[in-house]
Amino acid sequence: MKEIKAIIKPFMLSKVIDALHGIEGLPGVTVSDIRGFGKSKGEDASHKIIEDKIEYVPKVKLEIVVEDELVEHVVKVIMDHAHTGIIGDGKVFIYDVKEVFKVRTGERGHAAI
Ligand SMILES: Nc1ncnc2c1ncn2[C@@H]1O[C@H](COP(=O)(O)OP(=O)(O)OP(=O)(O)O)[C@@H](O)[C@H]1O
Ligand SMILES: [Mg+2]
Repeated sequence: MKEIKAIIKPFMLSKVIDALHGIEGLPGVTVSDIRGFGKSKGEDASHKIIEDKIEYVPKVKLEIVVEDELVEHVVKVIMDHAHTGIIGDGKVFIYDVKEVFKVRTGERGHAAI
């Protein structure tokens, strides 16, 4: 099991989610509004958040835990649908997931995803 964490531009969210809905067997998606910064300077100044003199750019974070076989497909869908080609498009990170527990049923592991 892997966790896919994707940081994308907020205005690309609905396009990405629409595309993710088309993936058979996708177990779920967590969506958070976040702020951060990347390497490149000069990102769209109109969207910056300034807190205590520090500049951040608003982004959206998607967290998706899937079976290993689904990782490449999900990543490709995100890469294809979050892409504008302009700086700040975001990144996708992949993590190993050690264990999953499902609260309602008490299931664990693959059955709980
Ligand atoms: N290495 C990283 N670790 C954690 N978060 C990151 C990392 N790189 C980027 N982020 C997060 O992703 C957001 C988008 O990053 P961004 O796409 O601007 O990266 P970049 O390297 O600056 O690329 P670009 O040149 O396209 O702007 C950042 O605002 C930050 O929240
Ligand atoms: Mg950047």
